[in-house]
Amino acid sequence: MGYVSELFNLEGKVALLTGGGGVLAGAIGEGLAKAGVKIVFADINKERAEEAANLVCSLGGEAIGIGSNVLDMASLEASRDDILKKYSGIDILLNAAGGNMPGATIPPEKNIFDLDISDMDKVSDLNFKGTVLPSMVFGKQMSIQETGGNIINISSMAAMQAITRVVGYSAAKAAVSNFTMWLAMEMAMKFEGKIRVNAIAPGFFIGNQNRALLTNPDGSFTERGQKVISKTPMGRFGEAHELVGAVLYLVSDAAGFVTGVVLPVDGGFSIFSGV
Ligand SMILES: NC(=O)c1ccc[n+]([C@@H]2O[C@H](COP(=O)([O-])OP(=O)(O)OC[C@H]3O[C@@H](n4cnc5c(N)ncnc54)[C@H](O)[C@@H]3O)[C@@H](O)[C@H]2O)c1
Repeated sequence: MGYVSELFNLEGKVALLTGGGGVLAGAIGEGLAKAGVKIVFADINKERAEEAANLVCSLGGEAIGIGSNVLDMASLEASRDDILKKYSGIDILLNAAGGNMPGATIPPEKNIFDLDISDMDKVSDLNFKGTVLPSMVFGKQMSIQETGGNIINISSMAAMQAITRVVGYSAAKAAVSNFTMWLAMEMAMKFEGKIRVNAIAPGFFIGNQNRALLTNPDGSFTERGQKVISKTPMGRFGEAHELVGAVLYLVSDAAGFVTGVVLPVDGGFSIFSGV
């Protein structure tokens, strides 16, 4: 095996992807499978997880899809037990379940005093608690495995700068970034550095949740879509497969001394003043 192949070698590892029926987890799972990783797509929507697994299998990879709820400890523990009947360990956890909700956003004609607190709680729970609970269940498994493991969280541009409308989602993703640092420290200090924890912060990728906000049915940009493009030095939206390299790097030995970082994959959005 060549030097680079050895450094990035993930052959035979097992990865669990929460939100596995989603756009970004699907693309990341496909990429990891091409690198020889066995993929478990876990989603509250079991059919979507199975569809993602079928696609990976049709491309020659190894994958299964399961139903699992990131907000339900018993459901996560049952998923862990099922996976351990098939595989000897869980090497990679990608916390990709997440997203926004209309009531937790402030549209232009409203203001902060109109915020629906119950929707704010739901968004906060899904993005933040939905990262904490799987990290506890699968992180514990990593702590008892000799080989340790890697946890990857998904933060957002909204955690770094104020973005209009998305008040609840932004706060929850800021919590995910902070938790990434905290858990990285905790795992490194309590488990001899054998568990690393990092996050990616995607810029703007067209997905199920933001397609209508950013693009018109004819494919042109909405006003908001155009604003995003204007603040992205690379002048385009990201393609989901462009997240694969960052994840591959973070979970491989190439990043063996890297823990607690939040890596933007954003075409320069986060470093550009807009001027
Ligand atoms: N698309 C983007 O531009 C973008 C940018 C930054 C961050 N993100 C984040 O990346 C992650 C994935 O985004 P996406 O665009 O692929 O979203 P998506 O809506 O396509 O996928 C999210 C998946 O999570 C699943 N899910 C919802 N609740 C769940 C629960 N309780 N338990 C298990 N699964 C549950 C959904 O069924 C869905 O399949 C999210 O955390 C999102 O906030 C996306």
